[in-house]
Formats: sequence, C-alpha cells, structure tokens
Amino acid sequence: MTITETLLFLHNYRYFPYEKDLARREIEALLSPSEVHRNGQGFKVIGSIDEVALKRLVYFQKYTLDSGFFDTLQHRLETSCLKTGRQKRQSTRYSVHGLHEYKGKFNPQIVRGILNVLGIPPKSTIIDPFCGSGTTLVECSHSEVNALGCDINPLAVFISNAKLQSLSVEAQRLRDILDRLMNNLNLIDKNCLLQIRQSPREDYLRSWFTKEIFVEIECLRIAIENLTGNHKNIFLALASDLLRDYSLQEPLDLRVRRRKTPLPTQSPGEAFQQKAAIFINNLEAAQDVVGVKQEPNYAYLCDSREIIKNSEQWSHRPAYDAAVTSPPYATALPYIDTQRLSLVWLDLATPKDLRFLDANLTGSREFTKKKKNFWAESLKSNRNQLVSEVHSYCCELEEALSDTDGFRRQAVPYLMYRYFSDMQAVFRNILEITKIEAPFALVVGHNHTILSGQRFNIDTPALLKKIAISCGWGHQESIPLQTYHRYSIHSANAVRTETLLILKKP
Ligand SMILES: C[S@@+](CC[C@H](N)C(=O)[O-])C[C@H]1O[C@@H](n2cnc3c(N)ncnc32)[C@H](O)[C@@H]1O
Repeated sequence: MTITETLLFLHNYRYFPYEKDLARREIEALLSPSEVHRNGQGFKVIGSIDEVALKRLVYFQKYTLDSGFFDTLQHRLETSCLKTGRQKRQSTRYSVHGLHEYKGKFNPQIVRGILNVLGIPPKSTIIDPFCGSGTTLVECSHSEVNALGCDINPLAVFISNAKLQSLSVEAQRLRDILDRLMNNLNLIDKNCLLQIRQSPREDYLRSWFTKEIFVEIECLRIAIENLTGNHKNIFLALASDLLRDYSLQEPLDLRVRRRKTPLPTQSPGEAFQQKAAIFINNLEAAQDVVGVKQEPNYAYLCDSREIIKNSEQWSHRPAYDAAVTSPPYATALPYIDTQRLSLVWLDLATPKDLRFLDANLTGSREFTKKKKNFWAESLKSNRNQLVSEVHSYCCELEEALSDTDGFRRQAVPYLMYRYFSDMQAVFRNILEITKIEAPFALVVGHNHTILSGQRFNIDTPALLKKIAISCGWGHQESIPLQTYHRYSIHSANAVRTETLLILKKP
C-alpha cells in the first residue's frame, strides 16, 4: 500500500548523535520523501510512501497510517525481551543476541541501520568477511536478507552458527530439550570425572577451574552431547558463555589474570538452566515477530585474506549484493585471550593452538622477533605495494621510534604495515566476489600509539579508504559514529570514535 503522509516516532531511549543521523538517512533511503519535517517526537514525512518500507525503519518505534499507529519490526523485536518499563538505552540482547558474549560485538541496530541506508532489500545476499559472533548474519535473518559470514576464529563461527540454528528451531522444542537435559543431568556418573586423566585439554582446564567446578562443567558437557541431539551446539554455546564466570580467571578482565573476586554462589548447572531459559524465552518472543526461519544464514571458518580460495568449497557462493562488516582494530582487541577456556572446553582448539590462533588474526599484536624482522623488511621495500600515503605513514611511525620504546612499541610500525596489507587483500577479495555497484560498508575504529613519548592518532578509516580506492573501490562517504561503544566492560578502554566507511564497486 502507498500513502502520502506519515508521522514517524523516535524510540523512547537516549540516542547517540550518529543514531539520529542514521535515522534521517534511513528516511531518505527507504522512503524517498518529497518533504521531511522535524516535529516533537519524530518526523512528519510527505511523499509517495511504501508501507512495507515503514515497517523496516530501525531508529523509529512507530508510524501512522490512516487507520492508526503501527509498530516497526525493530520496536517489536527490542521490546520483545524487555523485562520492565522504560530503558535508558536501546535493548541489544533481544532475539538470539544474548547467546554468548563476544568482544567487539556490533550493536545489532547498526547492522539493519546500515542495510537501510544502503538500500539493501529483502532477498538480497550479503557477506560479512569478519563476522565475529554473527550479529550481521542474525540481523539479516530478521529482515529476510541472505547472509554469509566468515571468521578465522573457530569460536566466532561456532557462536554465529548456534545463533542462526536457534532461529530455525521452534523455541518450544528447545524448551522441551532443556527440560529433558536438566531432568537427566544427575544421572551422569561423576566418579569417572574425579579421576585425573592426563591430556593437554584436561590439564589446561583443570588449571583454571576448581576440582568441583571442573567436574560439574564436564558433566554438563557430557549430558548436552548425549541428550540434545542436533541441537547440542546451541546448548554448548550457552554453557560456554558461563565458563569464565566459574573459572579462576578474573571474569571481567580483558586479559588473562588470576581471579581476586569470589566465585559465584549459584552452581554452574543452575546458572546454565537459568540462562538457557531466558535465551529460549527471548527466542520465542522474537519468533512471534519474525517467525521460525526456514533456511538459516551461515558462517564459515575462513581467513578473509584468502576468501576466494577458501570459498571454493562453500555450498553457496553467489555474487554478493553488498558487504557489511566491522573489521578488527589495527592493533586488535585480545579476542582470543578471553575466549581461551571456551575454545579448549568446546574442543575447537588445543591449548597449543591458542598462540597460533592469536598470532594469525588480522590486527594481532603477537609478534615474534623473526616475524618482526620479516615485516620490517616488507615495510622497507613496500613488498605489498601499499598505496604511497599509507606506506609513507608507516615509515613515519618507524622514523619516530627511539631506544626509549620497548619491544611492543618498536613493533607498531610493522604491525600497522601488516594490518594494512591484510586489509588490502580483503578489499581485493570482496571486490572480486560482489556485483557491479555493490556497496561495502565497514565500521572502523580509530587508533592511537605513543612513540618516543609522542602521541600519534592513527586515522585508520582514512588510511583504509586510500587502500580501498587503490584496489578499485569508489568512496561514497565516511560517516562519523560518535560515542559508539564496542564493548563496555572497561569503559576506559571502550572505543569512542568509529567511522562508517561506505565504498561502492564501480
Ligand atoms: C570486530 S570483530 C567482529 C565482530 C562482529 N561484528 C560481531 O558482531 O560479533 C572482528 C573479527 O574479525 C576476526 N578476524 C580477524 N582476522 C581475521 C581474518 N584474517 N579472517 C577472518 N576473520 C578475522 C576476529 O576473529 C573477530 O571476530
């Protein structure tokens, strides 16, 4: 149905400035209005307006039609998991988003905000080359967009696929499985777990859990593996999210440090049951809004620097209509550090693999002396032929070094050169697998470093833009995203300025 006038109402929560900006932009992109007027609670929009497009607005809660007020899909999703009254900030844990913590997780609203601003309609197919815990893939599922993700971290892929699988199972079915699981948990023989078996996995886990908790979490794992059939990864992911809370690591620390705070008083089994029940309730509420998904989106374990080679084995390999991602920081968050227990407990990595996994991430700060020398040589000869401004910038950082800088700081210019080389490979790959005129949107963080006592503010988005252009992308726009928190455990560390970089394939 097409209408000629509507009133749009903003949500009741507090907006960041960029969200108001995106709200204006989605009106323009989705509704193509002839006039837009700001009014008390939102906007009055005049033009030839498609009602279906109104439902897709993310930064609005309601719109008017002749016959009354109607909720947007986003408002229905966000309020589906609210416990009480008015919230100060938007809800980010609705649907399956609360399955598992993940450092650097997207705020879900921004994904659909970006899809709207880019004008990506339902049934399109998009790719997220750094999909992390799958926020893009889940939000695409909510809006009937096909999406494929890849990540080099096996835990990221595991969490993403557990979320996506959940969307395709009736919540009541998961509730029945949970009941059966909890009723049979006591039947698992604990005695065999009390005996210590020597294996790298067990040695590692025993060093990070008390004996009693180790036995409990292993019982839970065995029960899940034996009693939940095809749905075991959903329940394993839910249990994995509790591991750090029950470990001897300080749970809120971004690095691995020995615990000083007391262990929780509730047993891991009870905490699991409670978490799983809340998750299933949220899933059920979201399924009331978006239905049960028939063909879930999917995440692949893949290095996005080698996406072309790797994707030859994927079952589904279309030409993509768009790419949307948040790449790692130039000197990355310690993704793997806080996930070590989950990676080992879920058997996704051996304790020995962990260092390699970390060192292999784009943006990793792990550097051996040999690697550092290799990348110093690469910078010197500009081995990867980075565009001159970016190469010169890395050289400038190198020139600023002095003996007062320790090993980590001495590595910064070479880490930056490696990061930009990695991102160059990703820009080339995505250009190859997307359709003509496809947009590529990246939410990119800024960085800074201190060399010889001098502060360098590294404008990563501007440098990435130059690389993208040198690879053949057109630059459409760079939109600042002020006070956008990637994570909030340590607000002092939370990144405050990011940029939405929008590129377009010619
Ligand atoms: C900022 S996070 C993405 C978070 C994601 N948007 C979410 O909502 O969870 C960046 C991700 O890039 C992944 N990554 C780093 N290097 C990679 C590479 N070479 N190939 C694929 N993924 C990589 C990391 O494992 C991490 O999950």
